[in-house]
Amino acid sequence: MNTTTEKILVLNATGKAGGNVCRALIESGFDVYGTTRANKKSLVDKGIKPVLCNYTVRSDIEKALQQTGAKKVFAMTDYFGAAKSNADEEIRQGQNAINAAKAAGVDHYIFMSVADAEFFNEHVKHLKAKPILEQYLHDSGIPYSILRPCAFFENFDDPSNWNPLKKGVVKFLTDKNCKYCATYDIGRAASICFKNPSDWLGNTLDVIGWQGNLSQVAEALSKVSGIPVKAKLVMPKFLRSLFLKDLHHMFLYYEVEKGPRGTPEDFKKILPDALSAEDWFRFHGQYSNGEKIIVER
Ligand SMILES: NC(=O)c1ccc[n+]([C@@H]2O[C@H](COP(=O)([O-])OP(=O)(O)OC[C@H]3O[C@@H](n4cnc5c(N)ncnc54)[C@H](OP(=O)(O)O)[C@@H]3O)[C@@H](O)[C@H]2O)c1
Repeated sequence: MNTTTEKILVLNATGKAGGNVCRALIESGFDVYGTTRANKKSLVDKGIKPVLCNYTVRSDIEKALQQTGAKKVFAMTDYFGAAKSNADEEIRQGQNAINAAKAAGVDHYIFMSVADAEFFNEHVKHLKAKPILEQYLHDSGIPYSILRPCAFFENFDDPSNWNPLKKGVVKFLTDKNCKYCATYDIGRAASICFKNPSDWLGNTLDVIGWQGNLSQVAEALSKVSGIPVKAKLVMPKFLRSLFLKDLHHMFLYYEVEKGPRGTPEDFKKILPDALSAEDWFRFHGQYSNGEKIIVER
């Protein structure tokens, strides 16, 4: 393993993306600090050094950077939770973090945005802040890179959004061809950027590990678990259009416009062993209730 003792501060380390980003960075040899408002124990259990910090409060981030001495930051924003589904608030919070990092002299700031964020229509409110924050970061003068992931595999096991992974069935909001990535690969991509600043400062990378439709996702889980798996829509599309208008229009971009434009082939030029659906089910390892996906025989 290539080791380095460089410190990295990861914002929102308790979340789905933050946790796996920290894991990948620790495995790459970085000294990883993660922020949380209150949940220190969950970070310690994963080998992450916890920092009490509300990432939406500029003085908290400044304090976290001062306490840790980190000059590298992995940042994201949270539209649904922290910004309470308000894009202007998400922009303000994202700008706060960038301003705090600038004041602390951060030498590499990686912002997790979304693939093709600028191409979604006005109904996709939860992605509106991303291109604005990308531009703000670019204009800030901080040395930066931008990672632009597509749909997370983690959505297949997301109990907080009413989609726990259960034995024999996999559910999602689209059954059509879609591009996916593992949040762990966002962290592995971040490690590549942090370790190769001459290649990645000022640059953007789409994180896209695999593509396939929901039946192919079910086949992947069936292969890993050794049992038949059904593919199901979480809800019929007309209900999706009525009750989840924002997400519905995001999925229309995938289904009708075949977005995002990046491909797994492109991403694998940077990370050749990016996880496929099958790899991700092995990596994730368990159903939502804690039962193992692969049963030892
Ligand atoms: N889901 C996808 O397919 C997908 C794809 C591409 C990009 N993304 C992007 O991924 C990001 C979401 O990441 P995620 O899924 O890892 O999020 P998540 O699991 O929902 O985690 C949310 C994080 O935000 C913090 N948080 C929650 N409420 C907060 C509040 N009121 N004030 C301050 N902090 C708060 C939590 O930290 P504490 O409670 O510990 O403080 C937690 O670490 C979004 O920017 C989204 O656009 C998602």
